Amino acid sequence: MSLLLAFADEAELARRLATALGWTLSLVEVHTFPDAETRLRLPPVLPPHTAVLRGLQGPNGKLAPLLLAAAGARELGAQRLTLVSPYLAYMRQDMAFTPGEVVSQRHLGRLLAGAFDAVITVDPHLHRVATMDDVVPGRRGVALTAAPLLGGLVAQLVPGALLMAPDEEAGQWVRAAAAAHGLDHAVCHKQRHGDHDVAVSLPDQDVRGRAVVLLDDVASTGRTLIAAARGALAQGALSVDVAVTHALFVGDALQQVQACGVRHVWSTDCVAHSSNAVSVVPLLAAAVQTVQALDLPGDATAAAAWAAASASPR
Ligand code: R5P
Repeated sequence: MSLLLAFADEAELARRLATALGWTLSLVEVHTFPDAETRLRLPPVLPPHTAVLRGLQGPNGKLAPLLLAAAGARELGAQRLTLVSPYLAYMRQDMAFTPGEVVSQRHLGRLLAGAFDAVITVDPHLHRVATMDDVVPGRRGVALTAAPLLGGLVAQLVPGALLMAPDEEAGQWVRAAAAAHGLDHAVCHKQRHGDHDVAVSLPDQDVRGRAVVLLDDVASTGRTLIAAARGALAQGALSVDVAVTHALFVGDALQQVQACGVRHVWSTDCVAHSSNAVSVVPLLAAAVQTVQALDLPGDATAAAAWAAASASPR
């Protein structure tokens, strides 16, 4: 007796998640007015347990409709409202790097905390803020990790691989993936001088003759991966492959990564991309079920109203 709401551009992932949950799926109807405002339409009655799937890659155009949909869902009966955001944007801006800079992670977290009871995501870029509970104050935050899944894929496809984090922040995922599958691992040091200007120094570990797999949470411009791949190949790595949770690959980033000598690029389906090789749907479904089972006050009347409304054609 639960519902998954999603937007048309994520219908495929939503269908698979709804199937894994055994829930009804409903797509939000979106009309875009000539002046770029949107009108949203949800089912007229929602069940007490409702989740919204919304990946926040390319976030700016999605945030207003998402917050409006959440507010509308409350009015229409949702009591326990969970956001499933496989990619959660703005997590990297977790401090003011220069005076006056807006700490986007904190403020996006507060906005989401005002709209949802729980937020579930995968490999958020948590660095100086420890947990997703801290990102969405007063609400339940769940940070899943795809690192063991990606590690499993690597162990299967590149036996004996050396898993390499292109920067210290990716060390957490490389350690988790290596530990789960008995792989060697190493961590590089990165300095970012600008959006497209990244320097990566390799660790002391000997990479000569090794099949190196770079593992990171997100590939955006691809510059981090390119710098690390070039370094590994220059030091004699046999091959360099890439595994990332979130395949943003803006513009021609994927082609540039491949052009620098990277052999294979694998990713999870958190963000739909040609490199998708493993699915986080089972992880998401388990997390949604856990969160939805938490102390929701029973509301038989609301559940019955939704069941009756769902049964009648509209
Ligand atoms: C940041 O530290 C992340 O873990 C990624 O390494 C970074 O965001 C990748 O960005 P790009 O692909 O633009 O180098």
